[in-house]
This record gives sequence, structure tokens and C-alpha cells, in this order.
Amino acid sequence: MRRIWPDPADLDETGLAAAYAQAPGVRVNFVASVDGAATLAGRSGGLGNPADQRVMGVLREAADVVLVGAGTVRAEGYDFVRPHMAIVSRTLDLDPDEFAEATVITVSSAPAERRSRFRDVVLAGDVDVDGAQAVRALQERGLGRILCEGGPHLLGTLEAAGVVDEFCLTLSPTLAGPGATRVTAGAPTTPQGMRLAHALTDDEMLFLRYERIIS
Ligand SMILES: NC(=O)c1ccc[n+]([C@@H]2O[C@H](COP(=O)([O-])OP(=O)(O)OC[C@H]3O[C@@H](n4cnc5c(N)ncnc54)[C@H](OP(=O)(O)O)[C@@H]3O)[C@@H](O)[C@H]2O)c1
Repeated sequence: MRRIWPDPADLDETGLAAAYAQAPGVRVNFVASVDGAATLAGRSGGLGNPADQRVMGVLREAADVVLVGAGTVRAEGYDFVRPHMAIVSRTLDLDPDEFAEATVITVSSAPAERRSRFRDVVLAGDVDVDGAQAVRALQERGLGRILCEGGPHLLGTLEAAGVVDEFCLTLSPTLAGPGATRVTAGAPTTPQGMRLAHALTDDEMLFLRYERIIS
């Protein structure tokens, strides 16, 4: 892994972990093709490679909780992520055995019978989960370093709430062509400026880390 900006240097495991040390807040991690697609054939996996998997592992190590939308859990076939996982869902169409220990963030209109299948259920809205309420609930559980691994509708929710502090984007050297979704989806939100914190490269991948501009 090589850092190309700032301070060019080769990074070993320790250097990579230091580059991704996480402060309390919401960090988001996505992979996209160079023409802006979030998926190939409906999944992000086709855009990734071992270098991307390595960075994903480092990001998870740095976090207290991995936060994902239920659409991503289903599309990508997620297992429970240790040390902790939080899943945002309206329908609660989730495997209650696999995700028994997860924090499930849902809405008051979610089916009561399905709610009762999970140990830790947060109600963070009536019809839509509110991003700020979801983040507060995790912070109250001592899970202050939040890593959101998507997907697009959950990112749209977090952007709408103005709670995205960091954005890690892996740029995959792929032209996906038209049709795939972007990394964000949902209702329009107010654009937010970000500053580039670092650019790394390995195995043709570009790893960009952006931070919220504190004004
Ligand atoms: N490129 C990448 O890095 C990347 C990362 C992640 C995912 N993806 C891809 O993105 C696609 C999935 O997209 P997606 O937008 O459907 O993913 P998503 O945001 O993970 O899932 C959407 C689902 O999450 C729940 N949800 C999200 N926001 C909610 C809110 N504000 N209130 C209530 N529920 C909410 C709902 O679950 P229920 O349906 O259970 O109610 C909703 O249907 C897949 O193809 C996946 O492979 C790509």
C-alpha cells in the first residue's frame, strides 16, 4: 500500500492502521467504478479486490460498530460483523438467528411480531429511520466510532441528517456502463463540502479518504 498524498510513503500494517485511525463520529466506506457505479451485476463485490478487502478489514478494526442498511445485508449476504453490527430496516425482513445480537434500528410502524425477534431494537422514526436519531442511539450504547458500509439508501438517510463526518471511497479501475445505482440514493439533500485527507493506492485501486470541513 502506498500513500501518494500527502507525504508519499509505503505503508506497512501499522502505517495503514494509523492512516485509518477513527475518531468518534460517522465514517462511511464505499467502492465505486470510475464511471460512478456502486455495483456490478447488483453487488459491490465485482468492483473490489484483495487490496479493497484489506482496507475494509482495517476500517472495521478501527470502528466500534458496523452500520448497514437491510438492503445491503440481503444483497451482499452479510453475516454478523464483530465486535458489533447495527442494521437499519423498515420491514425487519432479516434472519433473527444470524442477527440476534445486532442492534436493529427501525421505525414504530415496523411489524411488532418481527420487532420482538431481536434483543436490541431502536425506534428512530415512524415511517423512515432518522439518521441523527440512529447515530444518537449508537452513541448512547457507547458505540461512538460508527462505520457505515452502505448501502445507497442508508447513505442518503445519513446525508439528509448531516451526520457524515468521513467518507472513504475506493475507486475501482472499471467502466461499469450505464444502469447501476450511485453510492447514494433517496431524496435530494443539501450538498456538503469535504476535504481530501489522504490518497492511497494498491493493486490499481485508489483509496480516498475525505473529511467533513469544520467551519
Ligand atoms: N459500492 C458499495 O460500496 C456498496 C455498498 C453497500 C451496498 N451496495 C449495493 O447497494 C445495493 C443496495 O442498495 P440499497 O440502497 O437498497 O441499500 P441499503 O441502503 O443498504 O438498503 C435499503 C434498505 O435499508 C433500509 N433502510 C435504509 N434507509 C432507511 C431509512 N431511512 N428508514 C428505514 N429503512 C431504511 C430499508 O430496509 P427494509 O427493506 O428491510 O425495510 C431499505 O429498503 C446492493 O446492490 C448492494 O450491493 C454497494
